[in-house]
Amino acid sequence: MTTQTPAVRLRGITKSFGSNLVVEPLDLEIGRNEFFSILGPSGCGKTTLMRMITGFETPTGGSVELDGKTVDRVSTRERDLNMLFQSYALFPHLSVYENVAFELRVRKTAKAELDTRVREALALVRMEEFAARKPAELSGGQRQRVALARAVVGRPAVVLLDEPLGALDQKLRKEMQFELKRLQREVGITFIYVTHDQEEALTMSDRIAVMSRGRVLQVASPIEIYDAPTSRFVAGFIGSCNLIDAVVESGRVVVPGLGAVPATLPDGTADGARVVVAVRPERMTLSDQPIEGGFAGVIAERVFLGDEWTYHVKAGETELTVRVPSGETSTALAGLPEGGRVWAAWPAAAGRVLPADETASPLIGSPA
Ligand SMILES: Nc1ncnc2c1ncn2[C@@H]1O[C@H](COP(=O)(O)OP(=O)(O)OP(=O)(O)O)[C@@H](O)[C@H]1O
Ligand SMILES: [Mg+2]
Repeated sequence: MTTQTPAVRLRGITKSFGSNLVVEPLDLEIGRNEFFSILGPSGCGKTTLMRMITGFETPTGGSVELDGKTVDRVSTRERDLNMLFQSYALFPHLSVYENVAFELRVRKTAKAELDTRVREALALVRMEEFAARKPAELSGGQRQRVALARAVVGRPAVVLLDEPLGALDQKLRKEMQFELKRLQREVGITFIYVTHDQEEALTMSDRIAVMSRGRVLQVASPIEIYDAPTSRFVAGFIGSCNLIDAVVESGRVVVPGLGAVPATLPDGTADGARVVVAVRPERMTLSDQPIEGGFAGVIAERVFLGDEWTYHVKAGETELTVRVPSGETSTALAGLPEGGRVWAAWPAAAGRVLPADETASPLIGSPA
């Protein structure tokens, strides 16, 4: 991160409801003009974290800074941000245009500027033609787009979006992703973005925070989150991943029934440690001939997905998922029936060794 004042800085922010700790103390900085996504399963604390940044929720502890200034005593209205809620509501008696214009009218924005801004925001979400309609006359996806226009029309420094594209079909969703990125580049808004769609998070974000049960387990770029997860949870949550239980013996990673497997062992990992070897299915190779350092197994199941085959291979007691691009490389394999004998292998660099404990901190020596 640059030395610029971050758009958002959280210091030890935490939230409990009664005795239920839903966001564990967290330090986090989000840069200006950053596209920052929060990913995690339902109930892990994403919305609560966003609401604490906005001021809608009072933290149990810790402090929020916006643009270098503490805002703990500043009301939501006076914070330079806007949030699009998961369950947003439009004003039913106002037209689409007036819904989007509302905040600008409150701020007494000059008429010509207001009109320009509202039309721009409606164009962004492809809703210009619907300006005169009432919310009840719109589809769910159209209402969601109006809410999105309303969130960005005032061009706040920070916009928090909680599943903003959830109600849209795939094509519109892709278009809106593109438009949001464009808006962010052109206007310089910091986005804090919650989505359940991993691909969306990977393609849109500068950085991603992965949460589980109130804890932020890892904050990193999409590439790092995907290639270098630091916990079993993150490896399994983003994309698909083989998670193979193993034990460290004399500096080697040993899988019961398979023996030593290719893996990069972090320095200082103790002998006898229970670990998980995480290998992405596309990093594995499969052959109908023995491969040096590979493991013999049988095809338990294979699924044709057009551009690739997914093989489920049983090697000893270990189930491996292997993805093979369809076409030339897999013609020999394509001829093999389920139950056919194959060999699976992967390079040591593709075998990431993680603590067996689901959400434990990184093993000693692995990159932070
Ligand atoms: N006002 C509240 N009072 C008590 N518990 C709450 C309150 N708001 C949220 N919780 C609890 O806090 C936890 C985190 O909720 P939160 O809404 O932040 O999850 P989330 O990650 O946004 O989930 P989802 O993906 O389903 O929207 C949940 O267990 C939820 O039940
Ligand atoms: Mg939520």
